Amino acid sequence: MSKWDQYDSSVGDDPHPFVVGAVERYATARDTALDLGAGNLRHTTFLLKNGFKKVIAVDEEIRGQSNKSSIEIVTMRLQEFVPGQQSCSFVLCWATLFFLAQSEVPAIFDRVYAALKPGGIFVCNVLGEKDDWVVGRVRGRHYATAVELENYNKRWVQLAHPREDRHYDKNKKSWHVWELVLGRSY
Ligand SMILES: C[S@@+](CC[C@H](N)C(=O)[O-])C[C@H]1O[C@@H](n2cnc3c(N)ncnc32)[C@H](O)[C@@H]1O
Repeated sequence: MSKWDQYDSSVGDDPHPFVVGAVERYATARDTALDLGAGNLRHTTFLLKNGFKKVIAVDEEIRGQSNKSSIEIVTMRLQEFVPGQQSCSFVLCWATLFFLAQSEVPAIFDRVYAALKPGGIFVCNVLGEKDDWVVGRVRGRHYATAVELENYNKRWVQLAHPREDRHYDKNKKSWHVWELVLGRSY
């Protein structure tokens, strides 16, 4: 039993369409990728099927197993994980920064930047200020306003205009999420 069972069965094994589009359009170098908050490994598997040679899957609670040499599993909190400098060309952090505190996320962005090779890509999503968890101040979760996103991302090349996703889920939670594709400059 995992607290993520319901989430895992709702998303299944398919990658999120935004991730698929970002990989197709922007990920030209496909050597090593990091999947931060890899969960049930659905995106790790997608990246390997789409030409990445190796994926390092990091999560405090990985669900799923693999004995493939192309997957390295790291069971660790993101707050403690320090990837190698310029060690990868693509980093994904999907539906995971939502669970970190406001003060913890800037350091993660800095580490991702350092981990990327010049021209590397970071795809992630963050909560917006109108999300129910932000409005309800659930454990001081990280979020960003549109203006903060602009400032936050100054060192990055913004490859796509942030996509704003607002919807209610079946539990009537109101989601407000920004989906980002950022590039490390050459
Ligand atoms: C909503 S799931 C998303 C999983 C996967 N990225 C996906 O798109 O299916 C959030 C994941 O973040 C992980 N997680 C949450 N907080 C974390 C932390 N501080 N460090 C590492 N992993 C964390 C959870 O274990 C969970 O697998």
